[in-house]
Amino acid sequence: MSHHDERTFVMAKPDAVQRGLVGEIVSRLEGRGLKLVGAKFMQIDEELAHEHYAEHTDKPFFDDLVDFITSGPVLAMVWQGADATRQVRRMMGATDPAEAAPGTIRGDYGLDLGQNVIHGSDHEDPGANEREIELFFDEDELVEYTRADEPWVYEDEDH
Ligand code: RTP
Ligand code: MG
Repeated sequence: MSHHDERTFVMAKPDAVQRGLVGEIVSRLEGRGLKLVGAKFMQIDEELAHEHYAEHTDKPFFDDLVDFITSGPVLAMVWQGADATRQVRRMMGATDPAEAAPGTIRGDYGLDLGQNVIHGSDHEDPGANEREIELFFDEDELVEYTRADEPWVYEDEDH
């Protein structure tokens, strides 16, 4: 694995689907040079929601969080690239869209904490990316390929 093979789990949440923001989210990640290696349009059931947000089980907002994430379809994705987990989190912005910087996805498209458009694995939680990818995807649902512009994104690849 080279340094630009890091994978992270990303989800366009139900509000993004309902508001027609899926294309915008994909476009931003794609334009940055990150590579889409898996995608699944699906509705999350209660059991998967509990597993995905297991760290928040005891929080007062847990039930609302599960209701929201199961309320409609989502686009679950795996994106690959240099420092992908942290870079996606930077592009997402702060958890509360009201505090997220303009220019970030949440800062440009959200106003309320409970409907913040996008999920990305936490880069400060070691192994969260791999754990979430495994929860949503089988290995054979992820695709390995070279994107034609990779040498123009990564300076250590020959043109
Ligand atoms: P996510 O997991 O959804 O990508 O969001 P995140 O890492 O930025 O934030 P996290 O702390 O993992 O919280 C998960 C989701 O729970 C809702 N939340 N509500 N009422 C509250 O205090 C509160 N805190 C968090 C947010 O919708 C957040 O995305
Ligand atoms: Mg989180």
